[in-house]
Amino acid sequence: MSDGKSDTGDWVYSDTVKDHFLNPRNFLMGDESKFDYDAVGLVGNPICGDQMKMYIKVKDGKIFDLRWKTYGCASAIASTSALSELAKGKTLDEALQISAKDIDNYLGNLPKHKFHCSILGHDALRDAINNYRSNKK
Ligand code: FES
Repeated sequence: MSDGKSDTGDWVYSDTVKDHFLNPRNFLMGDESKFDYDAVGLVGNPICGDQMKMYIKVKDGKIFDLRWKTYGCASAIASTSALSELAKGKTLDEALQISAKDIDNYLGNLPKHKFHCSILGHDALRDAINNYRSNKK
C-alpha cells in the first residue's frame, strides 16, 4: 500500500489544494472582454514553460477584483486560486507582499517539488501591478 511518498518526494495534495484545483476561484471563463480590468500581467515559469495571465481591477488603491487564466498545472491552478482570494481587497503594496509561503500555508502545503508552481500566479500579479502603475504615469 502506498504511503503517498516516492523517491521524488511527497505527492499528497491537501483537500484545500484539491478544492481550489477543481473549483478555481476568480478564474476567467471565456475571453478577456468578459472582465472590465485596469491592467494585465503575463508571465511564464522558466522551470516548466507554463504561462499565467492575471487581470486586475483597482479601486481606491486596492485590488477591487481580479481574474486569471493559465496554461499551468494543477498546483499552479490551486495556488493562483488561493492567491486571488488572498489578494482581493488588499492595497497594491499589500498584495505584492503575499509570498509563495503564504499561498502554501493557505493551501495546507503543496508537495515540495510543486512549490515553484505557486510562484507563477504571484509573478503574474506582480506584473499586472507593475503595468497598472506604469500606465498611471
Ligand atoms: S509544473 Fe508548471 S507551474 Fe506547475
